[in-house]
Amino acid sequence: MGAVVWILGLCCVIATGLQTIRADDSLPIVVRLHRTVVDNTNTNLNDSDESKKECKARGITCGSCTSVMLCNHENKMVASYECSSVDAQRPYCVGNGMCTNIMDAQCNTPSELCPPEQSYAFYPVPGNCSESVYCNDKKFAMKQSAPSSSYVFNSLVQSWTLRKTTADCFQINCLSSTMQNKFYVYKPNPRLYFYCATFGPMTFECSENEEFNETKRRCEFACKKEGKFAIPDGNGGSQTDRYYLCLAGLNGSYQLFETPCPTGLTFQTDDCKLPPPPATS
Ligand SMILES: *[C@@H]1O[C@H](CO)[C@@H](O)[C@H](O)[C@H]1NC(C)=O
Ligand SMILES: *[C@@H]1O[C@H](CO)[C@@H](O)[C@H](O)[C@H]1NC(C)=O
Ligand SMILES: *[C@@H]1O[C@H](CO)[C@@H](O)[C@H](O)[C@H]1NC(C)=O
Ligand SMILES: *[C@@H]1O[C@H](CO)[C@@H](O)[C@H](O)[C@H]1NC(C)=O
Repeated sequence: MGAVVWILGLCCVIATGLQTIRADDSLPIVVRLHRTVVDNTNTNLNDSDESKKECKARGITCGSCTSVMLCNHENKMVASYECSSVDAQRPYCVGNGMCTNIMDAQCNTPSELCPPEQSYAFYPVPGNCSESVYCNDKKFAMKQSAPSSSYVFNSLVQSWTLRKTTADCFQINCLSSTMQNKFYVYKPNPRLYFYCATFGPMTFECSENEEFNETKRRCEFACKKEGKFAIPDGNGGSQTDRYYLCLAGLNGSYQLFETPCPTGLTFQTDDCKLPPPPATS
């Protein structure tokens, strides 16, 4: 635990730039520039706990579903690294510590840090702004670390951005008892929010034009650009006699107005329009 680890002398092989994960759409994977620090104690990633293995013999073996470890004669771990730190396209550990692109079937446990809405996307690690998880279609979370401590995860750009003020690093410690059983909006991207369950954090995501309101404990419409937007009616459809109007305010902010359609028009997609003629079949 907590061991800062050196990749078996190969430490200088550093991949830079962007690569694409196999069979996914075009979402880039940022290859880590650093040796991996393996420390799950503060990250509250429960999903890999079950897969965590112990040293049974001297040599190289899988430390978890995504990491390799080196064991000594006393069956103690002397070194460990994430497969993704060596090759982002071979993030899984199988068999005798081999990194591959195919996950061991028994590793396939979904992570609470991966909301169901989106796959192949990066999500924050609530307890550490220098880390993120990459969630695949099975909601398996692969931890990624910032290339340097001067960078923090930015979920809006799906990459790392320079830490300029302390506010850039948003972290909550869900394991502290005062934090538990409550919702928290993820301030850098209020579309995301966490619930601190007793076993650790759970990540949720509002739909596209919404942000989480901690007071009301629910997602609500938020203006992110100018335009006219449908008001959900609560039944999966939208209201037809009124709409949300978003106008530019000061300093890149937006003002929200709830506005009725002129009499005789109904809101359709992006504006108040004449009702469609009755369907003739
Ligand atoms: C956060 O993550 C970084 C990168 O993995 C690690 O170096 C650092 O120790 C972690 N910080 C805490 C408080 O766990
Ligand atoms: C991980 O989750 C399982 C089931 O959800 C739970 O039984 C276990 O105690 C958790 N482990 C930790 C370290 O929180
Ligand atoms: C959340 O809702 C409350 C109550 O309506 C409101 O006063 C507050 O401004 C909202 N917060 C955000 C961030 O929109
Ligand atoms: C907008 O920016 C100006 C100067 O940059 C600042 O004085 C003002 O308070 C800001 N207004 C709002 C609403 O943030």
